[in-house]
Amino acid sequence: MLTGKTAIITGANRGIGLATVEVFAEQGAAIWACARKQSDEFEYKLREIANSNAVSITPVYFDVTEEIAVKDTVKMIGKNSKSIDILVNNAGISMERLFSMTSVKMIREAMEVNFLSQMFLSQLISRYMMKAKYGSIVNVASVAGMESEQGGIAYGSSKAAVIFSTRTMALELGSYGIRVNSVSPGFIETDMWKGRSKEVKEKILSETPLGRQGTPREVANAILFLASDMSSYITRQNIVIDGGRKSGGGLRELV
Ligand SMILES: NC(=O)c1ccc[n+]([C@@H]2O[C@H](COP(=O)([O-])OP(=O)(O)OC[C@H]3O[C@@H](n4cnc5c(N)ncnc54)[C@H](OP(=O)(O)O)[C@@H]3O)[C@@H](O)[C@H]2O)c1
Repeated sequence: MLTGKTAIITGANRGIGLATVEVFAEQGAAIWACARKQSDEFEYKLREIANSNAVSITPVYFDVTEEIAVKDTVKMIGKNSKSIDILVNNAGISMERLFSMTSVKMIREAMEVNFLSQMFLSQLISRYMMKAKYGSIVNVASVAGMESEQGGIAYGSSKAAVIFSTRTMALELGSYGIRVNSVSPGFIETDMWKGRSKEVKEKILSETPLGRQGTPREVANAILFLASDMSSYITRQNIVIDGGRKSGGGLRELV
């Protein structure tokens, strides 16, 4: 599905990002796997995935909020790739705090990591895609950006901004052959849920028709669909991957 395509994936060292690297490699993509910090374990894992799928995977390191590092990396990738066909903006942080307890600093941090970094990287990469008149950008948002939850002011607002900006980018970039979509995962088995109470997890599961947590690979499969030509007439959309849960209603552990 992705043979001959080059993809950039952020937050590639664990969770949904690493699952996306695996799924894209299985489909033949050449991958620039972006992580914040160099790690031998990460590079070993990438070599394993690359070898078993006979594709090229190159690790690159930068903090998504550091504009100079992002710019330098994009320049380097641009010089060393014949095209940049796919961008998956996946890196993100979660935070939970009631509105009355949330500092502007926290909101700013959520916005910088989850939203502004996606904007900046998409802007730089879309210039390559505009020249090629081809590209697919997939932004990882969240159901938290679709329905308000108690404690979700910083994280939810940043993800709502992702969903909204995805739609605007799709409007402006469509005439260049660039599609822009988002995915909104719900309750997915990653480190993001470490340390959350059993009660919260049980509450979410009780509201989920499929009755279980989603896997990173299930999110990666939706990202693959949007990144590939299988979705060639789909743009400006947000695919929800939450087992059918109707979000909202509040996570009472915080109150
Ligand atoms: N898991 C869920 O239930 C769920 C639900 C909805 C949406 N999401 C979204 O899915 C995406 C992936 O999350 P995940 O569940 O896979 O969580 P995760 O396992 O915590 O992974 C987050 C990834 O983002 C990277 N990252 C965070 N801040 C960064 C920064 N400033 N610069 C570079 N990389 C940074 C992390 O790098 P380090 O390893 O260096 O920290 C890590 O690779 C996020 O956007 C998240 O909001 C997840």
